[in-house]
Amino acid sequence: PTTGTEERPRPRLAEPIMKKVLVTGGNAGIGFALCTQLVGENGCHVYLCSRNADKGKAAVSKILEKYPEGKCELVVMDVGKDESVAAAAKALSSVTFYGIVNNAGAGLSHGVSSDVILNVNVMGPKRVCDAFVPLLDQKQGRIVNVSSGAASSYIKGSMSGAAMGKAKSEEKAPLISFDVTWEQILGVVEAERKAGNGTVAPFDAYGLSKAAVTAYTMTLAKEHPNITSSSCSPGFVATAMTKGEGPAGVSPEKGTVSIRHCLLGKLGGNGWYFGSDAKRSPLDRSRNPGEPEYDPEAKVEVLLHVYQMRGGAPPFRGNKHISTETFKVPKDMKALEFLKQAKASGRWNRIGRVCVVVGAPGPYIRDAMTKTIDEKLMVGDLKEGEAFGMCLAMRGMD
Ligand SMILES: NC(=O)c1ccc[n+]([C@@H]2O[C@H](COP(=O)([O-])OP(=O)(O)OC[C@H]3O[C@@H](n4cnc5c(N)ncnc54)[C@H](OP(=O)(O)O)[C@@H]3O)[C@@H](O)[C@H]2O)c1
Repeated sequence: PTTGTEERPRPRLAEPIMKKVLVTGGNAGIGFALCTQLVGENGCHVYLCSRNADKGKAAVSKILEKYPEGKCELVVMDVGKDESVAAAAKALSSVTFYGIVNNAGAGLSHGVSSDVILNVNVMGPKRVCDAFVPLLDQKQGRIVNVSSGAASSYIKGSMSGAAMGKAKSEEKAPLISFDVTWEQILGVVEAERKAGNGTVAPFDAYGLSKAAVTAYTMTLAKEHPNITSSSCSPGFVATAMTKGEGPAGVSPEKGTVSIRHCLLGKLGGNGWYFGSDAKRSPLDRSRNPGEPEYDPEAKVEVLLHVYQMRGGAPPFRGNKHISTETFKVPKDMKALEFLKQAKASGRWNRIGRVCVVVGAPGPYIRDAMTKTIDEKLMVGDLKEGEAFGMCLAMRGMD
């Protein structure tokens, strides 16, 4: 009989299968913090890439000093050079990787040229994926492209108010379509060059490069549907790249949240772009951390109060209420498109100037048209009580 207190043989734990992850630009900044965390906290076997062997060795030593049981090895690779990437892939051809993190990047305070920025940030991830995707686990492998909030700033045409990019918005448009092709991405780079009379300013090139790499992520998702490819923004992080570029950013250790989510977290789709809070974000506008996750399928109910505008200019006293209508529309729909559809409902054709108020309006619409209708205003961004307006139909002014 047993007393229940004697030691029983313990079951032997199976050796954990270490995820093998390649991280480019692993010797400094966000890349170094990421490698350290993947080794120490996620039990990954990290292949830390550095273009400079000495810097790379120092980084690997630092990680292994902190985590002597960890697995971290150096790969000397310059993502800006075909032969360097090809040689690294050849040397590692017997490895099956779980993940590739295209983190190496150039721009802003690095003070490098646009050609370097585009070569490292756009061609770099392409070179690395061309060489390393055949070495990825073809069933559950992941690719993470480190992008930036500068991607949507470039698409919008400004970053913190400063103009970003010279190409027209219709020329940039392929970069936000899931149907985008690699040729179209190169086409946008060319359009930007043309718009700048043969040159691209480094600030513009940085935004362009990040918008291009989010677009490239979507091409990867289509080409390799069994591999999950994501792009993400790390947030504003204090590194050599951002030194002197504005307010102090968060520490590199805090700048890895979205990258780790894309690499190890549960993801809802392929080719998505994530904000620094690891929530899905749109490509054509900014979503700040803490704001609701981007969901292109989400619909919102919009209550429209339609007024006939008398007098023409604000404050619109004495406007006549014409109708109230409810529409269910995609949250993501452009306000102009929505108004066109609402107009197509046919009820307003005899009204001249129309003001549309979302939600409950006051007795008259003093501050009507507080929002201008342009391409960028989304219906889902309007708040209750906010008004926007346009001349829906000029015939039949009564
Ligand atoms: N910091 C931010 O706020 C922020 C915001 C948005 C996005 N990002 C992105 O985050 C990534 C990491 O940047 P970071 O802020 O950590 O900057 P960082 O500290 O300056 O690190 C950049 C890393 O990229 C490497 N690199 C540059 N050119 C390379 C090349 N040709 N081949 C291989 N490696 C190369 C650098 O190596 P060397 O040490 O040899 O130069 C370094 O390891 C970049 O893609 C950046 O665009 C950063």
